[in-house]
Amino acid sequence: MASGGGSNLGAILDACRSGRISAEVVVVISDKAAARALTRASDVGIPALPIPPEAGETRESHGERLLAALGPFDADLVVLAGYMRILSTAFVQRLSGRMVNIHPSLLPRHKGLHTHRRALEAGEPEHGCTVHYVTPELDGGPAVLQAKVPVLPGDDETALAARVLAREHVIYPKVIGWIAAGRLRCPDGVPMLDGRPLTAPLIDDGSLA
Ligand code: GRF
Repeated sequence: MASGGGSNLGAILDACRSGRISAEVVVVISDKAAARALTRASDVGIPALPIPPEAGETRESHGERLLAALGPFDADLVVLAGYMRILSTAFVQRLSGRMVNIHPSLLPRHKGLHTHRRALEAGEPEHGCTVHYVTPELDGGPAVLQAKVPVLPGDDETALAARVLAREHVIYPKVIGWIAAGRLRCPDGVPMLDGRPLTAPLIDDGSLA
């Protein structure tokens, strides 16, 4: 599910197509009818469904429509890749342990929006991104994998966002590959990788296979 440019979706599609991960994108859903993510999907023959909320529709009712749309695809995993709308608690609970998100900060720092600006304003020496399982607490679900980037002198939001996004494109397919291979699960709210509980997120330093 994506709202915008879909560069993370592009990275995931590349990883699937090249065989780097053993997964298949079966549908792409967007809350924005004009999202580039939708055309990225339809261009390669993947069903692309615009499902914007209707005027006056509640979050709960939108969530029910999303679940109904997802149903026929029987997806094992829902991947939020720049999906910029808060999902209903019922939607999140239905997909408990089967939905992941990528967030452009080193969670738990900078939940929510404008993460790059906030990292710059705080004068932080490093920033990054986090893949986490989704729970009803916004950006608060258990983290699996993070990548760090330096904040460089002269950085502005655009420069820092680009440096982080490049790392997102590496760690998101990696985590999806682990799940597809049956190596990563999240029973009872604790991610387990290769049978070991992750009490803190792993850091991708290039050595993780
Ligand atoms: C990414 O930075 C993601 O972390 C954030 O929104 C951005 C989406 O980028 N939630 P894209 O649409 O995948 O290019």
